[in-house]
Amino acid sequence: MKIRGKSVLVSGANRGIGRAFVDALLERGASTVFAGARSASNADALRAIDARVVPLHIDVTDRASIARAVERVEGLDLLINNAGSLVGYSLLESTREAVESDFAVNFWGALDLTKACLPKLEESRGAVLNMLTLVSMASMAAIGGYSASKAAAWSMTQALRKELGDRGITMFAAYPGAVDTDMIRSFEMDKTPPEVVAKNALDAVEAGTLDCFPDPMAQQAGAAWLKNPRDLEAMFANM
Ligand SMILES: NC(=O)c1ccc[n+]([C@@H]2O[C@H](COP(=O)([O-])OP(=O)(O)OC[C@H]3O[C@@H](n4cnc5c(N)ncnc54)[C@H](OP(=O)(O)O)[C@@H]3O)[C@@H](O)[C@H]2O)c1
Repeated sequence: MKIRGKSVLVSGANRGIGRAFVDALLERGASTVFAGARSASNADALRAIDARVVPLHIDVTDRASIARAVERVEGLDLLINNAGSLVGYSLLESTREAVESDFAVNFWGALDLTKACLPKLEESRGAVLNMLTLVSMASMAAIGGYSASKAAAWSMTQALRKELGDRGITMFAAYPGAVDTDMIRSFEMDKTPPEVVAKNALDAVEAGTLDCFPDPMAQQAGAAWLKNPRDLEAMFANM
């Protein structure tokens, strides 16, 4: 799918990788970028970026908020399920509520938003891009709650690839490594700028590459996983 002239919805568009997606989509000539933000004030602030940006107030954990926002979307070619939460750390030490809130955003939020956009995507024979992570493939114990929610989102992605495919909709997925955003601000490690991740993920969508490893860490770890999934598990166990 070429981005030029297309209408795209990005959840969690107010900062981090989501904000980088907005800029990259505009640069590639998207006709409309529906920029979702959980808070109304963050959504309003997105209006100033460009006349093609339509801010939408969407809390992906609130189905009424999703329905109200999607009602304002006239045509849609690409949905980017980008909104994400990392509050579930060690599975033994995190509260159940913390892990549940990662599932609410990372699994249920992405699924509910996809279902709400389905009629519009079916009409355009469009696409969905799910922002997953390397820890969808092999859990990192220090963020075991988040990893479990993203593993569930990966399983959901695989199931929807078949079900959306039957309706003419293409399911893309990106599996970044460490990206330099607020989400992992306190982690000391090499990180890739969000602009690079957004660019490479959109290159994959434009090239029709269904699974994308959008940064150097992702490429290395993804290759290890393809060779032997236990190698990635062992690598992450020591991080
Ligand atoms: N950073 C990394 O190293 C990394 C690596 C692999 C994958 N990813 C994935 O990439 C995506 C973007 O991550 P990021 O690093 O840009 O994270 P981030 O800087 O923490 O930003 C997260 C975004 O998601 C939004 N969000 C959270 N809960 C939401 C909700 N209930 N409804 C709507 N929006 C919500 C946030 O909105 P508020 O501003 O209102 O909180 C914010 O816009 C996530 O899916 C993440 O899991 C990130």
